[in-house]
Order: sequence, then structure tokens, then C-alpha cells
Amino acid sequence: MKPTVFIAHPIPEIGIDRLRKRFEVSVHPEIRPMAPEVMIRKMADCSAVISLLCDRIDAPLLDQCPGLKIIANHAVGYENIDVAAANERGVLVTHTPGVLTHATAEIAFALLITLTRRIIEADRFTRKGLFIGWDPLLLRGDELAGRTIGIIGMGRIGRDMARKCRAFDMTILYHNRHPVDSETEKALDARYVSLDELLARSDALSIHAPATPETRHLIDAAAFAKMKPGAYLINAARGEIVHEAALAEALASGKIKGAGLDVYEFEPKITEALLDMKNVVLLPHIGSATREARDRMSAMAADNVIAALEGRKPPNLVPEMADLSP
Ligand code: GLV
Repeated sequence: MKPTVFIAHPIPEIGIDRLRKRFEVSVHPEIRPMAPEVMIRKMADCSAVISLLCDRIDAPLLDQCPGLKIIANHAVGYENIDVAAANERGVLVTHTPGVLTHATAEIAFALLITLTRRIIEADRFTRKGLFIGWDPLLLRGDELAGRTIGIIGMGRIGRDMARKCRAFDMTILYHNRHPVDSETEKALDARYVSLDELLARSDALSIHAPATPETRHLIDAAAFAKMKPGAYLINAARGEIVHEAALAEALASGKIKGAGLDVYEFEPKITEALLDMKNVVLLPHIGSATREARDRMSAMAADNVIAALEGRKPPNLVPEMADLSP
């Protein structure tokens, strides 16, 4: 009998096709998260699952899936999976690093320039028929050239954001768990500073860190108080890193000038106050949503499943598992 693979939501066909050539595959047709009892029912007899960030995979669920060999997360982040619990049960966990770097940095940069040049306001203004002629005082924004971007998290996506900002003549400061090597710093023309210095000196702050207990609410009321007055905040990483109520207050008080968000603390819910603010740009978590990146994520998740079910070491084990022998 062929092993069974459960795909917890629709994903691009490329990965599904690869799996169908080898295994029994079922795709749950809905994007909404499944109730835990439905997850258990669907996963109980599977050898592999492809999951999304909304699928919480923890010890009680894993205990109901004795034949499970691999959880292939269709995302670079994997905070939805209890990796230690999977490890204890001999279940491999993989993710999709590297293939969504450009897409996600592009969306962060798009949020930045959309805010600073007031693109959404300008579009609405034009559609309303309010454009009556070239106006030297109309919709003036802030120029990026000469301003300072503060990057939190200098991994693959943070570095790509730094490159994009550098191309727009911005000064690059960053904060990370550890400074990156000096060659990379030199190539990016980026300088490591403490978080407090980053907050105080950045005209725009862009978050590119993973969701961990250490980064939860890293940007809270105290951090907003330390930010340069009139700075912007961009978050295309994880909602939990920003205290969303404190953000709404910092925007309402004018302490910060605008925010561009692709992710939310209580995703998919959004703090009500943000919805009416015209200096806020809100996206529905589309950082990796290019055709290229999403196809590569689907193919990568499938290739990880194929390797695991054929007894090989999957190429994209999460870092906590990366040194497992095959
Ligand atoms: C998306 O947010 C991802 O982690 O890939």
C-alpha cells in the first residue's frame, strides 16, 4: 500500500503533482484552520503532512498520529509546530528557507515606499475625482534617500531588505541576536547597534526576525517611547513581535508617523483602531505571495516529504534538527 500524505490546505499544484506520482494524497479544501478533532481525524493514519502556519501541531496531536514520519511546513517560519515534541516522537520537521527571501523583502520595501510616498492616499484621492491639476502642495511625503532604515533581524530577508534600502540611498543600521560577519556588514554597508540605539536613530524600522519567546512584544509601548518621533514601522515578519494595542496608541498620539503591516498579533484578526487610520497600510500576510516563491515553497515541501518517505534525509530540516543523521 502506498504511504498517505495529507495536505492541510490548498497549495500550488506543482508540489501536489510531485506527491501524487508516488503516494496517496489528500488535500483538505479549506483555508480556514481545522478544529483539533478534524486535524486528528485527517492526520491519524498519515505518513506525512504538509502544514501551514495556522495548523497548530503539538504533542497531543502527534500522539494520535503513530505512523507520521514528517511534518513539512509550507513556510519558512515554523512556530506552529512543537519541534521538541516531534523530535521526541521521531517525526521530522522541515520548512521552506531561501525561496521566499526576495518576495518577502520586496513586500517590506513596498510597504515602506507606499507609506512614505502616501501611495494609497494618493490612489484614493485620484479615484474620487479630486485631481484638478498639478499642485506643489499636494500629498507631500518623505524621501527615502538620506534617511536611516533600522532593520531588526539580519537573516536572509533582513539582508535583502538592507540591499534594497541601500539601492535607495538609505543609511543601514541593524540589530540582531549577534552581529553578522564583517564581510557581510561591509557588503551591505550596514552597522550593528543596540536595540535602543536602533530605535532612537531610525527613520523607519523594519522587522525581519522570527517569532520566538525572545522576540514576542519586542516592540511594545516602551520601545515606541524610545523611537524617533515621526518614524515609520514596517512589519512583514510576525505579528506577535509588535504589541498591536501599543502600536495603535503610538499612531494615534502621533509618536510614530505610519505603519505598514503584513502580519498581525492576533492573525487573522486586526486591532480595530488600525482599520480607520489613513497612515497605516494593511496587507493580508502576502509577503511570500509571488507565483515564483509560492511554487518553490510547494515544490520544496513536496521534495522534503518525498525524501523522508523514501528514507533519505530531507534537505530542509528546521535548524534544531539539521544535524540529524539520515
Ligand atoms: C510566512 O510567513 C512564512 O513563514 O513563510
